[in-house]
Amino acid sequence: MKENLSSLLEVRNLTIDFHTMDGIARAINGVNFSLFKKEKIGIVGESGCGKSVTVLGIMGLLQKPPAKVREGQVLFKGRDLLTLPEREFAEIRGSKISMIFQNPMTSLNPVFTIGNQMGHVIRIHQGLRKKESIEKAIELLQEVGIPSPEKRIDEYPHQLSGGMRQRVMIAMAISCRPQLIIADEPTTALDVTIQAQIIDVIQDIIDRFESSLILITHDLAVVAETVERVLVMYAGKIVETGSVQELFESPKHPYTQGLLGWITNIETERGKLPTIDGMVPSIFNLPEGCSFSNRCKQCIPICIRQEPPNIEIKPGVLCRCWLYSEER
Ligand SMILES: Nc1ncnc2c1ncn2[C@@H]1O[C@H](COP(=O)(O)OP(=O)(O)OP(=O)(O)O)[C@@H](O)[C@H]1O
Ligand SMILES: [Mg+2]
Repeated sequence: MKENLSSLLEVRNLTIDFHTMDGIARAINGVNFSLFKKEKIGIVGESGCGKSVTVLGIMGLLQKPPAKVREGQVLFKGRDLLTLPEREFAEIRGSKISMIFQNPMTSLNPVFTIGNQMGHVIRIHQGLRKKESIEKAIELLQEVGIPSPEKRIDEYPHQLSGGMRQRVMIAMAISCRPQLIIADEPTTALDVTIQAQIIDVIQDIIDRFESSLILITHDLAVVAETVERVLVMYAGKIVETGSVQELFESPKHPYTQGLLGWITNIETERGKLPTIDGMVPSIFNLPEGCSFSNRCKQCIPICIRQEPPNIEIKPGVLCRCWLYSEER
């Protein structure tokens, strides 16, 4: 961990429920982490573990209801975003913090040209005039590697390839030089050949702007290449935190060990999709003890009775597992 750098974002005990017809879904259960200036972190975990809800909660983009932030703080440069009036929050969102989503087609409006949409965003946040905002848009398209941006600017989203559309989304996200960029599965909807290019664009932008990055991805190879630190999530909790190297060389939590094995198997046994045995518990009815206990091969009696503490195994390496506790 980079203790000498000050933290840009500090998420404290973030707890988010969804109030649904079927009851209360405990989607996020006390998430804690900090992100330093210029730091790049990844969030990994199986589908439904709460990656998107965590970052949408940080961005204040969850629809309330059904979502309810039951507890927690999201400190951005020391200010709790969750207590800000919506207008102030909206100002920070899009200028200081930007988000890149999975599917650029759903975020771009099909009836407006790229220039129109980018110009609009730039005018709102930077108060530029129309002509200046178009010039700025062209400049931004250039920054994300779109060839002949002065032509592209007059095109509609459907005229661009998926990769180009994602570049446009990135260009929009960086128009105010945000200090924090959150990318939620930014390449999942794209062709494999394009995925690496988009990751390169994001990397390049982050390095040039000296921004921080939160990257959510299923792709552990991308995690290994792109980020410095990883948060592993399971059932709405961070179960392991550590540097990329630590995580890949010596995963601590049985869940992380399973995840890594799972990926290796995919590579070695094509066509077969082995998973970690057993089912993720329902977030409507989470178990008393460790949420992973029913699937864990190393489960001991206390795991079923009592939630494991978050143990600092060594500096910067945290793991929520009884196996590492002396109290068990
Ligand atoms: N609007 C909602 N109402 C009820 N439950 C929701 C809602 N949005 C998300 N959830 C639940 O919250 C949990 C976390 O969802 P989330 O979208 O964060 O998962 P994820 O880790 O991003 O998964 P994926 O990898 O598939 O994107 C899931 O169980 C999901 O069903
Ligand atoms: Mg998601």
